[in-house]
Amino acid sequence: MLFTPFKVGSLEIPNRVCMAPMTRARWHLPDLVPQYYAQRATAGLLIAESSAVAPLSVSRDFGGRMDEDRWIAPWAKVADEVHAAGGRIFQQLYHLGRKSDPTRMPNGAQPVAPSAIACTGQIMGKQGAMVDFATPRALEISEIAEIVEQFRAAAVRSKAAGLDGVEIHGANCYLIDQFLRDGANKRTDAYGGAVANRARFLLEVTDAVCSVFGADRVGVRVSPHATADGTSDSDIVTLYGHVAEQLSARRIAYFHLVEAIDYGVARRSPPPSTPLVMPTVRAAFAGPLMVNGGYTAETAEAVIAVGRADLVSFGELYIANPDLVTRLYNNGPYNPRDQATVYGGGEKGYLDYPSLTVV
Ligand SMILES: Cc1cc2nc3c(=O)[nH]c(=O)nc-3n(C[C@H](O)[C@H](O)[C@H](O)COP(=O)(O)O)c2cc1C
Repeated sequence: MLFTPFKVGSLEIPNRVCMAPMTRARWHLPDLVPQYYAQRATAGLLIAESSAVAPLSVSRDFGGRMDEDRWIAPWAKVADEVHAAGGRIFQQLYHLGRKSDPTRMPNGAQPVAPSAIACTGQIMGKQGAMVDFATPRALEISEIAEIVEQFRAAAVRSKAAGLDGVEIHGANCYLIDQFLRDGANKRTDAYGGAVANRARFLLEVTDAVCSVFGADRVGVRVSPHATADGTSDSDIVTLYGHVAEQLSARRIAYFHLVEAIDYGVARRSPPPSTPLVMPTVRAAFAGPLMVNGGYTAETAEAVIAVGRADLVSFGELYIANPDLVTRLYNNGPYNPRDQATVYGGGEKGYLDYPSLTVV
């Protein structure tokens, strides 16, 4: 099943293996980025790294951005090279909100969020030392509309660059996720309180982006089980069930569900006591469901075969295995990943992982 064609919105894809969005922090060397994605063009769908839609959304150096017109040309090269290699590529758009790096904020501005509550933990700051996250400033209601507009404007740039679509990053405790969850959103206006209010920002962003690309070229990613930096919610089943139902009515291209709690070296699955969101989402969302988080060839095949999902995205395996589709098909072998070159650096650990030689 994993290797059978599928239709994502209006896009025909040759297999169900998708590349999960991954920040690799190589934009100081923009000529490398198109090659990296083109090497991986056999994926059914590539989802390019999170790209910031606003100047107040900042983190590590050389991450993806789409907040200015000057990013159109370099992303057009990405789209062109992927298309020349026979692939299809969406770009992930995001706003970090309270997870913005306080040491990198323009003119020392304060990060913004639904409520003035800092996330827990620290971030690697500009000077190379860990710093606490800042207490953010709660957005005025008029500013929320401005950020919706920033998402729309970024999607206009993505379209001008020739990308095949965009994925809205509603996952991993960034701004949209901060609005969704009652642990981070204590607003008492139309954007806080009831689930329908907390989902309003995501849905407004979705409608704005769909007005640019058409809903059939827009995906949305969520991660109900992620609780990084203290972004918790008291009832994820009701929250994400509502989100799935609303997005289903909008007929977006796909719903991208990150199932794991966290990612990185010590990735953990939700503990058995956590209510799983997947069955609720599957029932509420009529379109294609993409799942993510620790999948292998075997488990990806199984999740599609039993009808729990339509597509599977792979993150870490794609770092070191540009021809992952072939390797999954053959059940390996997989190149080991060089941890030191995951974020930042040059060609090493980015463009030099070998493909299998077919004899
Ligand atoms: C180096 C790295 C960068 C990542 N960057 C992003 C990102 O930009 N956007 C996002 O939604 N998730 C990001 N993730 C999470 C992955 O998309 C994925 O959810 C995670 O790796 C779990 O999938 P896997 O088990 O197949 O690796 C990143 C993960 C890694 C390892």
